[in-house]
Amino acid sequence: MKTLKEAYSRYFRIGAAVNPRSLERFGDLVGSQFSSLTCENEMKFASIEPKPGEYTFGGADIVYDFAKRNDIPMRGHTLLWHAQTPMWVYEGGRDAALARIKSHMLAMAGRYPDIWSWDVVNETIADDKTGALRRSPAYEAIGPDYLRVVYRMAAEIFPNAQLVLNDYNELSPEKRAGMIRAAKDINAEGNIVSTIGMQGHWNIWVDPDDVRRCISEIAEAGFRVQVTELDLSCFKWDEREPEDRDTPEYRAQLAKAYGSIFAVFREFADVIDAVTFWGVDDGSSWLNGFPAGRRPNWPLLFDREGKPKEAYYAVTEF
Ligand code: G3I
Repeated sequence: MKTLKEAYSRYFRIGAAVNPRSLERFGDLVGSQFSSLTCENEMKFASIEPKPGEYTFGGADIVYDFAKRNDIPMRGHTLLWHAQTPMWVYEGGRDAALARIKSHMLAMAGRYPDIWSWDVVNETIADDKTGALRRSPAYEAIGPDYLRVVYRMAAEIFPNAQLVLNDYNELSPEKRAGMIRAAKDINAEGNIVSTIGMQGHWNIWVDPDDVRRCISEIAEAGFRVQVTELDLSCFKWDEREPEDRDTPEYRAQLAKAYGSIFAVFREFADVIDAVTFWGVDDGSSWLNGFPAGRRPNWPLLFDREGKPKEAYYAVTEF
């Protein structure tokens, strides 16, 4: 059996979002399968500095030390976000907010100096289909130019990291246009953000042509691509009732969907640097709690015991 990182060694890194619990349970699997790791929550601002000056690096250290021991490079997620970032960060106006963001970045750079890629500001585009910037707390506190300022700061503090503009719903043309516009605006005075991060929270009926169109538009606009948070829900967005979808029929659809989108990813191996799954096994996926409360879901390549599913073979055998 070929591992994911063996199958994709000539294409791009294959990553996973992990946390201390998933590493404790599936450390061997993670160590053998993946060539990039992301902290699912542990490097977010609220995990690192919940109160001013009170640093809690514990969770991030566990993941970082695991990655080091196993010689797996890490992505950073995320320096600034409208969620999981404490509101005190933004108090007292533009200069105060920027000073706190800078000291947070310096703390991260000091403790985790070799992160290969950073999601600098996460989810910057509004949900209203206009592609406009989200009126986030950072936008309100710092002003409409906040992305330029924060990304420039990140470029100075993390000179060796690939900087990413990461967002969801990238298959929507309006949202995608907004992401590309925002990234170009950040780069108005120099090459700062090289990469658009497509989160890839899709479902098992995802259309590979939509994925192809999305990646080729981003590449034509001059950006590199990472798929940063891939998972395929077994439910459509509006389906909220629990139902056992760990059946042969749904497993086959999952495999078909994963097989077809990875075929598209391979077509774009020259612009994609990494494809990261948002979780290791079905049991640890955030989709068991979203958007329908505690409803089981089966969106990943490994089952709740860490066994590879049909989808795993659809991705690794080509
Ligand atoms: O740590 C507390 C724990 O102490 C408490 O007992 C428990 C009770 O609910 O909550 C725990 O915190 C949860 C945290 O995950 C850690 O498990 C939060 O409630 C929960 O909201 C949080 O969810 C995370 C979510 O981001 C927050 O927005 C998910 O795990 C994480 O997978 C998800 O990841 C995001 C990416 O960062 C950005 N893109 C979307 C993606 C999916 O939402």
